[in-house]
Amino acid sequence: MLESGPEMSLVCLTDFQAHAREHLSKSTRDFIEGGADDSVTRDDNIAAFKRIRLRPRYLRDVSEVDTRTTIQGEEISAPICIAPTGFHCLVWPDGEMSTARAAQAAGICYITSTFASCSLEDIVIAAPEGLRWFQLYVHPDLQLNKQLIQRVESLGFKALVITLDAPVCGNRRHDIRNQLRRNLTLTDLQSPKKGNSIPYFQMTPISTSLCWNDLSWFQSITRLPIILKGILTKEDAELAVKHNVQGIIVSNHGGRQLDEVLASIDALTEVVAAVKGKIEVYLDGGVRTGNDVLKALALGARCIFLGRPILWGLAYKGEHGVKEVLNILTNEFHTSMALTGCRSVAEINRNLIQFSRL
Ligand code: FNR
Repeated sequence: MLESGPEMSLVCLTDFQAHAREHLSKSTRDFIEGGADDSVTRDDNIAAFKRIRLRPRYLRDVSEVDTRTTIQGEEISAPICIAPTGFHCLVWPDGEMSTARAAQAAGICYITSTFASCSLEDIVIAAPEGLRWFQLYVHPDLQLNKQLIQRVESLGFKALVITLDAPVCGNRRHDIRNQLRRNLTLTDLQSPKKGNSIPYFQMTPISTSLCWNDLSWFQSITRLPIILKGILTKEDAELAVKHNVQGIIVSNHGGRQLDEVLASIDALTEVVAAVKGKIEVYLDGGVRTGNDVLKALALGARCIFLGRPILWGLAYKGEHGVKEVLNILTNEFHTSMALTGCRSVAEINRNLIQFSRL
């Protein structure tokens, strides 16, 4: 939780990061910021965006710039949405309820994590009109997954996002040193037979044996579109298309799982080429500025998702802080579009990009 202090003027997403670094407890700060092992990929997610240069076009009447787009057929106000991150109550008292309200107010999609600290019912009550997807860590007990998915579907979530890149947890050294897991519990994975939440560290909640052929089981129990999160290669992108899923999130989990994999933005091009426009491709990892959003869209992403910046906003001022983060990034993206001559997201294309040799 933040200590109160004099009002600061926060004008870009990294200002919120600096604020959170100063005000959060060490173990919470480390949990949010941490990467796996040497954090090479976490840092490269940011650096890789900065290696890309823009090729602006002028004299194109940018008096009206429209940031709206659609994902899975649903309109969003800008291609800037919220990635699933766990345990929002670590940084703000009513956690995911505030996040959901901010997403609803902004008119964008919020992917709720399996590891949410509020119940799914409370999140829906907090923001009944918001566009929500649900992120699933596949539990080894298939029936538990089925119950959870049916609950998610009846609560009006619009897509099932299955995270692929965490069959085991990456080595996050700070969390190990801080013994973080002892203090976390899982609200939504509780077994209906047991009354209480299951302490995170007492169970192995994620299936280690999940395979491509298991996807048909999920397709047989839900009508929701299935989005695979964590794909980084053309080989897996082709398999995703072959298995009839509806979307891919190119992601390396913010550099928190396997270290030394490609930065998300560097993996995007081969994934986009492999799916040949058959399904939507999204990206998360290292998006911090409007130019980053523009670059991801120019390389073929339909929208981007924010992980850590949402938690920085939440830590700053709950719902209001998340709204500010979304608002600042949307305004920056609007400016990036105008300055490159794009009046609509449909006009953002590969010609805007040059890979720098810096
Ligand atoms: C995550 N991420 C994540 N992913 C997921 O599928 N389920 C989850 O519960 C979580 N939890 C989580 C917690 C925290 C604190 C972080 C920082 C990240 C990964 C997340 O969805 C996303 O892939 C990255 O955070 C995107 O990178 P940036 O925006 O943080 O750079």
